[in-house]
Amino acid sequence: MKVLHYFLIFGLLIMSDLRICWAQDTIAADEAIQDGDTLVSADEMYELGFFSPGNSTNRYLGIWYKNKSPQTVVWVANREKPITDLSGVFRVDINGSLLVIAGSNNTTVWSSNPGPISLTTINPVAQLLNPGNLVVRDQSGQGSFIWQSFDHPGDAFLAGMKFGKDLVSGRDRRWTSWKSLDDPSPGKYVAFMDTNGFPQLFFKEVQNPVPFLRFGPWNGLTFNGMPSHTSNSLFTHKFVLDDKEVYYGYTLVNTSVVTRVYFSPEGDAFRLNWIERTQMWFLYWNADIDMCSRFGQCGSYGRCNPKNSPACSCMEGFEPRNPDEWSASEWSSGCRRRTALSCSNGDGFRVFKNVKMPDTRRSWYNQSMTLGECETACKRNCSCTAYANIDIRINGSGCLLWFDDLIDIRTVDESQDLYVRMAISDLNITIPSIPQLTSKQADSNKKRQKIVVVVPILSILVIFILILAILYGTWSKRKRSQVQLPDKTAETDDEKYIMESQDDDTGLSSFSLTKISKSTNNFANDKKLGEGGFGSVYKGVLDDGQEIAVKRLSKTSRQGLGEFKNELKFIAKLQHRNLVKLLGYCIQRNESMLIYEYMPNKSLDLFIFDKIKSSVLGWSDRFHILHGIARGLLYLHQDSRFKIVHRDLKASNILLDVDMNPKISDFGLARMFTEHENEANTNNIVGTLGYLSPEYALDGIFSEKSDVFSFGVLVLEIVSGKKNQGFSHENDSDNLLAHAWRLFEEGKAMELLGAHMRNSCVASEVLRSIHIGLLCVQHHANDRPTMSSVVLMFGEEGALSQPKQPAFFAKGKVPQCYLVSGNDITMTTLEPR
Ligand SMILES: *[C@@H]1O[C@H](CO)[C@@H](O)[C@H](O)[C@H]1NC(C)=O
Ligand SMILES: *[C@@H]1O[C@H](CO)[C@@H](O)[C@H](O)[C@H]1NC(C)=O
Ligand SMILES: *[C@@H]1O[C@H](CO)[C@@H](O)[C@H](O)[C@H]1NC(C)=O
Ligand SMILES: *[C@@H]1O[C@H](CO)[C@@H](O)[C@H](O)[C@H]1NC(C)=O
Ligand SMILES: *[C@@H]1O[C@H](CO)[C@@H](O)[C@H](O)[C@H]1NC(C)=O
Ligand SMILES: *[C@@H]1O[C@H](CO)[C@@H](O)[C@H](O)[C@H]1NC(C)=O
Ligand SMILES: *[C@@H]1O[C@H](CO)[C@@H](O)[C@H](O)[C@H]1NC(C)=O
Ligand SMILES: *[C@@H]1O[C@H](CO)[C@@H](O)[C@H](O)[C@H]1NC(C)=O
Ligand SMILES: *[C@@H]1O[C@H](CO)[C@@H](O)[C@H](O)[C@H]1NC(C)=O
Repeated sequence: MKVLHYFLIFGLLIMSDLRICWAQDTIAADEAIQDGDTLVSADEMYELGFFSPGNSTNRYLGIWYKNKSPQTVVWVANREKPITDLSGVFRVDINGSLLVIAGSNNTTVWSSNPGPISLTTINPVAQLLNPGNLVVRDQSGQGSFIWQSFDHPGDAFLAGMKFGKDLVSGRDRRWTSWKSLDDPSPGKYVAFMDTNGFPQLFFKEVQNPVPFLRFGPWNGLTFNGMPSHTSNSLFTHKFVLDDKEVYYGYTLVNTSVVTRVYFSPEGDAFRLNWIERTQMWFLYWNADIDMCSRFGQCGSYGRCNPKNSPACSCMEGFEPRNPDEWSASEWSSGCRRRTALSCSNGDGFRVFKNVKMPDTRRSWYNQSMTLGECETACKRNCSCTAYANIDIRINGSGCLLWFDDLIDIRTVDESQDLYVRMAISDLNITIPSIPQLTSKQADSNKKRQKIVVVVPILSILVIFILILAILYGTWSKRKRSQVQLPDKTAETDDEKYIMESQDDDTGLSSFSLTKISKSTNNFANDKKLGEGGFGSVYKGVLDDGQEIAVKRLSKTSRQGLGEFKNELKFIAKLQHRNLVKLLGYCIQRNESMLIYEYMPNKSLDLFIFDKIKSSVLGWSDRFHILHGIARGLLYLHQDSRFKIVHRDLKASNILLDVDMNPKISDFGLARMFTEHENEANTNNIVGTLGYLSPEYALDGIFSEKSDVFSFGVLVLEIVSGKKNQGFSHENDSDNLLAHAWRLFEEGKAMELLGAHMRNSCVASEVLRSIHIGLLCVQHHANDRPTMSSVVLMFGEEGALSQPKQPAFFAKGKVPQCYLVSGNDITMTTLEPR
């Protein structure tokens, strides 16, 4: 008994000892952390102590995520001075300095150098705060931090940190990559806020004076040129620019979300979210790199568009500085003006839409000026080469002026306009008689009639404006007839500016019919990939070996022409890794064709609904595909410049690239919504049986939630390998949705999974997918989640809401039109009730 008693007390002692050790997030000046001991933040998210990175045996003092494996370090103290044994000690000096000491003779390997210490600091303590910030402060809690690790970032950027410069103290909070995963000493790459001119973000090799990536300037929503990086439900962005400081930072909407930006030893930046369920970091965002990302890819006044081949072209009004180099795809020498500027004759400005703003290192700015004031300011100074709004939100505000050659311009999705100074003659508003008149004739006129000269000039101006208007009229007509698309909808917004550059609104290449015929072996039958909604799709190989898919509008399809135009209108403007990429079009001799990147694995339906091929797609592929489709759809609904409802999402419209990445295709039925429009009504119900939501099939109402419904059907089809349309099951007369719902209700949802995947799947992922699928096919649109919630649901552990019985539960309730046994071809003639 006594022995037991003794053990109990002993046990309690150990436990209480452990508790103290675990709970400690602070050390005082007389305490020390030995190698092996740690501090833990109050919320137990972060831990501070000595660690060895990768395969190294060196010891470093650092902060990492507690209980996450593999160990993920977010900050290192003695980056350049490793300790080679276990003798490291961490403590706070009485004067507020943090010290890492090692070796038998107590050598200081690292100290925090807090600078001059205020006299009021009597009892400095070091504390590891919840956001992962190691701070030194006075024990009393009064006064600001004496020192904080957030001021000394390494390769991790956490919520609450600042990235940028303190303009008063000069402190530069930049990222420095590790040398390698085994060595945290500063590596080859840095990322920093460049504060010459308007601040922008540079990624640079330490040794190289020229950055390799540039993002910015901040346009109120994101760093210009850094797509899909706008605020979202996970965190909110902040960009601060005032007299005292300039920085970027983010704060979490829900502090239990674990997210970080990681700057890798290779100089890449990623945002990673920790997924509790899989115990893995999930890639949420990365600085999308494409052939136009490299700084100054097309030289000065060159413009890069990754959709074009070649990607570089001179901006309108400019020509290659070195045509030979340029035609050999050596673009760095850039472009020069066709016509020199002539400030005294009054230059004009041409607007370039949807472009990444050029390098701002030699810019001037004023955040409160309007665009009109900005133009005046630029016009007034002959060395001003361009101007633009800084902030593109609402009606735009602020003024940026450039004073050097414009470099690093590319096509972007954001609606960002740049006004470039041009000689009047390059603005295509020259009228032969005008220059003559202003120079010679006007001179002689002046001699004769000095006073009345104002009158003719005024009338010339009026005539000039009239001619301008006529020119504009014919120009825009010509423009339309060139493309032979009598487009009635797209002209208002896109043609708002007279001097808008011509091909910019599509940014697409036009292919010649000869080229396309040749590439497809004159549309040979064995090149046919399939039949689409409005014609046939062929595989082609261009002379340079590039494989393409050619969608050829059937000459007899009248309805097809509308869809063709629609597709061209939408997809040309969209760019996302989960949307199929349009390379160009060909409109010639009654032929209308769209040219896409070729997808070697064709479409998803060929895999999931095929007995043999379905075994190729294991669970992890399918889960990956679900994610991809969800992200592509989210982009359409929310992240692109417009809100777009696809209206025909189905397995056969999901194409697969060589790595089985899904790409949404076929925008023939897509519909754009304005910002404040949430749903629309149509008498012409289009879509595909089996994927139509009830409110759409029955009442013709469609919205982003009708896409969500189709997505839900797709999820259940991908999981089960069964088609919703024409579904049959031995035991009941349910459709796929009802079948899934019954199994879910009975707690047997796993039975929905296709048999061949049962051994290789991750059950929690399968169950979650089915659950999400059911939430998406809810009868009422309001009960369905938005795609942004869906993407989060896939990525997170949190509990999901309980689905109700999905739409079309019993066959009796299914509208007659819904029961038509259709094939997979899009239907267009269902009449609403
Ligand atoms: C550690 O070594 C193993 C085996 O050599 C190697 O596969 C692994 O990539 C190394 N890890 C790191 C982080 O260097
Ligand atoms: C802090 O105290 C140590 C000695 O304990 C001394 O070496 C160091 O110079 C002091 N630092 C400052 C900033 O006063
Ligand atoms: C090193 O520091 C420890 C603890 O602070 C002390 O006990 C020891 O005497 C010191 N050793 C030397 C060589 O100064
Ligand atoms: C401390 O000891 C190490 C070897 O343990 C030696 O290399 C170093 O020079 C010593 N430093 C001082 C200041 O004595
Ligand atoms: C910026 O522009 C506003 C409005 O034109 C003006 O009032 C202000 O003085 C300007 N600020 C600077 C620093 O030029
Ligand atoms: C034009 O702007 C540049 C750069 O800000 C400045 O150096 C120059 O003095 C300005 N010229 C005039 C005439 O205002
Ligand atoms: C934006 O511009 C429109 C039309 O010019 C105007 O009605 C509206 O008030 C402006 N909005 C703001 C916030 O200035
Ligand atoms: C302007 O004129 C040039 C040369 O005459 C021509 O190449 C260009 O296409 C024209 N641009 C527009 C927008 O009409
Ligand atoms: C924050 O996220 C956690 C886990 O993802 C979730 O359980 C919790 O409900 C969320 N809190 C809020 C306020 O959304």
